[in-house]
This record gives sequence, structure tokens and C-alpha cells, in this order.
Amino acid sequence: MKDDINTGLSFDDWDEARFPRAKTQDFDRVVERAISRRGFLGGVLAFGSGAAVMGTAALKGSTAMAQGATRFPFEQIAAQTDGTIHVPEGYNWQTLVRWGDPLFSDAPEFDSQTGVPLEGSDRVFGENTDGMELFDIDGREVLVVNSEYTNNEINLAGRPANNVGEQDSDPAPGTAEDVLLLQNLQGVTVMELEEGENGWSVVIDSPLNRRITHNTPMSLDGPAAGHALLQTAADPTGMESLGTFNNCGSGRTPWGTYLTCEENFNGYFGATGEMPTDEAVAAGYARYGIAAEGNGYNYHLYDTRFDVTENPNEPHRAGWIVEIDPSDAASTPVKHTALGRFKHENAAYALANDNRLVVYMGDDERGEFMYKWVSRDVYEEGGDTSTLLNEGQLYVATFSDNQTGEWVALTPEATGMEAAEIAIFTRMAGSAVGATTMDRPEWIAVNPTAAEAYCCLTNNSRRGATNDDGEVLTNAGGDVMEVNAPNPRETNDYGQIVRWRPENGDHGAVDFEWDLYVMAGNPNVHSDGPYAGTDNINAGNLFNSPDGMQIDTTGLIWIQTDGDDSNEGDFEGMGNNQMLAGDPETGEIRRFLTGPNGSEVTGLTWSSDRRTMFVGIQHPAAPFPDGEDALPRSAIVTVKRNDGNAVG
Ligand code: FEO
Ligand code: CA
Ligand code: CA
Repeated sequence: MKDDINTGLSFDDWDEARFPRAKTQDFDRVVERAISRRGFLGGVLAFGSGAAVMGTAALKGSTAMAQGATRFPFEQIAAQTDGTIHVPEGYNWQTLVRWGDPLFSDAPEFDSQTGVPLEGSDRVFGENTDGMELFDIDGREVLVVNSEYTNNEINLAGRPANNVGEQDSDPAPGTAEDVLLLQNLQGVTVMELEEGENGWSVVIDSPLNRRITHNTPMSLDGPAAGHALLQTAADPTGMESLGTFNNCGSGRTPWGTYLTCEENFNGYFGATGEMPTDEAVAAGYARYGIAAEGNGYNYHLYDTRFDVTENPNEPHRAGWIVEIDPSDAASTPVKHTALGRFKHENAAYALANDNRLVVYMGDDERGEFMYKWVSRDVYEEGGDTSTLLNEGQLYVATFSDNQTGEWVALTPEATGMEAAEIAIFTRMAGSAVGATTMDRPEWIAVNPTAAEAYCCLTNNSRRGATNDDGEVLTNAGGDVMEVNAPNPRETNDYGQIVRWRPENGDHGAVDFEWDLYVMAGNPNVHSDGPYAGTDNINAGNLFNSPDGMQIDTTGLIWIQTDGDDSNEGDFEGMGNNQMLAGDPETGEIRRFLTGPNGSEVTGLTWSSDRRTMFVGIQHPAAPFPDGEDALPRSAIVTVKRNDGNAVG
């Protein structure tokens, strides 16, 4: 996601502007105070060059690094600050598909100055590519991809400026047609791919090709389906909704369906008149950030469904995990309320030792929580999976200072909430049981080669900050964001990756041990202390704000960044956003790919034969990919080895 989305504010900053937390005053980086936390951390990690890497596994790994063992099939590349993509020697990349490219032969032509016309805008690849997964469907390679949000300045090139945010230079939707265009360019794309002599391409008119937009019919299941809080005038049953929103990270099920994750859904809603006064609804709006102004999309001005004065329950129908069957373009996507409602980043599955399905999920907002869900029933290969995601137990993570943690079950007894309320207002349920506030949980990845999982905690500029009265700031629910063991850095601009190992190697267990795989930092600028990062950060692999993450079949951890690409000050030497690979055992991290100026690198999956890697480039600046005088376009690129061998 871009820092200055259409309002000129990041999603978190926009939320805070509408629902002020205690006013911050102290953003000083009190390095001394943070260093003194080494004692508190009890050896969990140490900072700065020459210090031991954290955790027992990583300590072992340091030895392996010293012995020169490596599992990397490539040499690290340098940081870059230019307008294109770089990959290591022995690899090559190609553009596969760009925003506005056709999926069907009757799709409109993309105009390099004005973008996509309204007519047929639901027949092209959407904007702002994000999470993606590839499926082998009867020998066809089918890629399913999220389009997270829209950049008004390019989708609405030439429209009048908006006055919603701090900037007034961006155009805003000013008609129902503008709104429909934006609705058509977000959601999910399903497209068949084929590989020919000149590389990969989209199979135009494949019967599997599909666009799922902000208006596609969906059904709801699980404990909240049909609840009064989900009922609207258009859908008095509370069982059917339209559209999936702000589709950020992704996931898949073992039975070959796609999971799309609704993240910053709140910004699409606004009010033309009174805001709802119902106590539960208003409390939910405050916790989830639904405000009268909306976040620059202006849907509520031209599409009544998004006007909460008229439809106060419509926002409750977004913020879910949505399952899509890519093998049937006529299938109805399902919103699974059992998995909770929050700003979902991604959904990473594992199987418990008894074959129940486990889904790990993060809630990406400052000070929000990490969750997992465990199905009631077991998964059987080839068995009926149609109701497996309907019933199960949602848990929230609590981390202790001694490197242990517990998944706390969000039950009616523990939370004082009914099952449907826990599903709809999951954040409040997490607060009720004392969940650990985290530094914006982004992607979670499960290691297929070891019983462990990882979560990118991208950054949290408010961590440990205080207000005028010296009180530590809170999340939107009033949970304090003091420095804690897995989030040990005040004013955390760089981010870290937490790793956990479930008890007995069973992802169904409630107890776990944890450590920090890496704390990003800049030892060039900060010679010691927490801002130098952990020992596996060095001058050669600097990065900030880990976000996307996948672990390949060999156990390599692929880390994508969405951070400050100014290459100045605290970020000097980090260059553009990038993709790195990490060794889970040694802790070594190497830079693999650099994105073009302005872009976030997000979304990663592989072809069935593992010889091609698909990498997403979101919101680049011109000249990527069509030149300096053309609109910049989010795109998916393929990365291959020159020798044709597997890439993960
Ligand atoms: Fe859409 Fe949290 O990234
Ligand atoms: Ca992300
Ligand atoms: Ca991010």
C-alpha cells in the first residue's frame, strides 16, 4: 500500500485522524532506554554488529554461517534506486500482465494517458496487484490475484481534485460512473496462464478467466451469517452480500481454493447524514475506523450501499476471509465469518497433527493482534470440504517475555460476547482476553520443512510513544502499545519478523515458543542499539518494513518490503522496496530482487513446475513499465533462472 493513498494519508494515519488516540509528543528515539531492555529481554535478542543472533536456533545458525554453509542458489544483489527491476546474475525477469491488460477479447484498449474506460473495465486485469496463488486445474495453470485498492490520480486521470485529505491535488470520484470504474478495477482476478517460446502470457477468453469486483454476489456462512448486524434493506436475510474489498494478502486451502483477505475495508464507507447511534454499531465503527468522510473513494456519495446513514450494517459485511473456487468461474465466493472480522492481511494454513485445519491470520493496524483459527472437523483429502470453514475455534496470540506464548480461545465465556459478536467484533474479543499488541501484523508464512511459522511485523511509529501526560499510546481499543518482548523497539520504523514453534510440533496446540527471526535496522547509521537491527542485518542486505512473505519448498523464506524507499537518513543504503530470501536455520538474509522507484514488492507464487516465480509490483512510478510519458502500471512479472532450473 502506498503511503499517500488518495487522502494523502496512510490507512493508519487516516484512522487516527478520525478517531484520535492520545496526542503524541515524544517521538524521541531514546536509544539508551531501549538498550536497557536487553536485560528485560533476557537474551531473546541482541543488537548491533558482533552481537549474538537471537534464539537458540539462530545461535546454532551463526555457526553454520561461520562455516560457510549456504542454501542460497544466488549471489546477493546491491540496493537500487532506479526505475526498473533487478535480479541476480543467472536469473531473468519479464512482464506478465499489467493493470488494464485484457482478459477477454472484447475488453477495451488501455490508454497510456487516461487508463481504462468504464465500458468493459470489469474485463481487464485490476489495479494494484497484491497477494496471489497459482492453481493447477486439470493441467491448466490458473493464477488468482488480488487488486487491493485504486490510485485515484491514475485511474481518474483528469478529474477535478479532491478535498478529502491533506492533499488537494489528487482527483476524486465525482460521478456514479467514476465510482463504478473504481469498483470494477478492484477485487480479484482469476486468469489462466500459458508458457510459450517467448515466456508466459494470459490465455485470453479462457473459460476460467474471471473478474470479481466490489459488486460480485457473495454468500456468508459461519456464526455471524444471518445475524441482525449483517442484515440490510437489500439483504434482509444477512446471508448474501455484494463484493469483496481491499483484497490484500492471500491464502489457499489444501483442497485447491483461494482465500482473499479483506484489509482496509473501512475506507469505502461514509455518511451523507447522521452516523449510526446504536451503541454496538458506533463502538464497532470506532474500533474499525468507519468515519463519515470516507477515505477518498466517495462511494457513499454515489452508491447508497456505502452510505452508512442509509445502511449502517453494510460495513459489517466486509472485513472477512473470502473463499473463491478458481475451477468454476460461475461459483459464488463465500465469506467465512468463523475466521473473524478485522483488517485481514493474509491467511496461511497448516494442518494440526490430527488433521484439523489451522489458519494463521494477522490484523494489520498499529497495536492490533495475531490470530489463528482451528476447524472443528478434520480435513480428509478428497473428502467433503464444503463446510470445513464454517465451524471452529478462533484464538488470539499472547506473547510472554520468556519466549513462550499462548493462543487464547475467543469463547463466549472468555470474552463475555456471543459467538456471532466475537465473529463480527473480533478486535473487541481480542482486547477482552488481553491479547498482545503487535507492530502491524502483515503476512504470516508456515514453513513446510519445519513445524514453525513466521509473521512480518512491518513497523509501528507509535510503539512506546507517549502523550502529553506521559501515558503510553494505545490502539483503537485502548490497549496500550508499550514496548513488549516481540515488539521491543520504540518508534519502530524498521520492523521485525517473529517466529513461533507450536508445542510438540502441532499447529493445533495452544502453547508455543517464539523468537525474533530478524529485526531490520541500519547499522551504518546506528552503530549500536536497537536501530542497528539484529546481527543478521549488515551493510549488504539493508531493508525496512517486511510485509509480503512466502516460504518455498526448500524452506527459504522470501521477504517482500513495503517501506520507506527514500534511501536517505535512517533509510540510507536500503534503496527501493525489494524481495530478499532468508535461511531459517542460519538467519542469513540476502537481497534477491529490487523493485522500480515508488513500488511495493508484494505477492509471490510459483508455477506448478517451480521453474517460474510470479512477483507482484504494486503502485510503481513512471517509467515502469511503459516509459516516462505513460501512466505507471502495477504489474506481475515472472522470474526464472537462465538454466531453467527450479526457483523454489
Ligand atoms: Fe495491504 Fe497490510 O498490507
Ligand atoms: Ca501487505
Ligand atoms: Ca504494508
